[in-house]
Amino acid sequence: MRKKLAAGNWKMNGTTASLAEVDALLAAHPAPGCEILLCPPATLVSAMSARIGDGPIHTGGQDCHAEPSGAHTGDIAAGMLVDAGASHVILGHSERRQDHNESDKDVRNKAKAAIAAGLVAVVCCGESDAEREAMNTLEIISGQLAGSIPDNVTGENLVVAYEPIWAIGTGKVPTLDQIGEVHDFIRTQLERRFGEGVGRSVRLLYGGSVKPSNADDIFAVSNVDGALVGGASLKAADFSGIITAL
Ligand code: G3P
Repeated sequence: MRKKLAAGNWKMNGTTASLAEVDALLAAHPAPGCEILLCPPATLVSAMSARIGDGPIHTGGQDCHAEPSGAHTGDIAAGMLVDAGASHVILGHSERRQDHNESDKDVRNKAKAAIAAGLVAVVCCGESDAEREAMNTLEIISGQLAGSIPDNVTGENLVVAYEPIWAIGTGKVPTLDQIGEVHDFIRTQLERRFGEGVGRSVRLLYGGSVKPSNADDIFAVSNVDGALVGGASLKAADFSGIITAL
């Protein structure tokens, strides 16, 4: 049985004052029925993790380098995230693929390093508006999964997030059938590559304009094991509504 996961991606938002939202979440969910993950900017990983202590919220990074150390100004190694208290890292988000020209191969190397360092890799995939219009969604997802997911996967150390680019921060959400089609497809691809046991253990998150008002419907879709939430994870009150829906 896969444990449901509510993951928040704070993107480039938040300062130490924002940790008050974490306090509010901890107070609202002392014993949540699902896993909760918050991925703040790198500057807050250590402070957030310390603030949570033994509490039921995991802390994650939003990116890591594929190398363990070296001359890479501005970058962070997977082991550094572990040292700062992170247990997860988001990799291959479409904003990094676009803004930093990250290729599937880059994402795969980062995910391999993250898993080797003991992190759970949350690998993102998703089609653009034009790709969906051209009926290429499944082909795009298939290529991203094959290219971005490394071989050192056990099931527990990988989460896949399906985030259609056109649904991110836009208020547009695919139909439930569209979400179900892609999630079932991702599950099949993982089972084919890693075998049924591993393929069925990987959690699949939907991301893109998830809110308390649509979370119930999205979480009822087959093979949706939770959500990767952007804007609605910044305020405890909103994120709380999504956590409760899981
Ligand atoms: O990683 C989460 C994300 O890209 C979705 O963002 O703001 O549409 O929930 P948002």
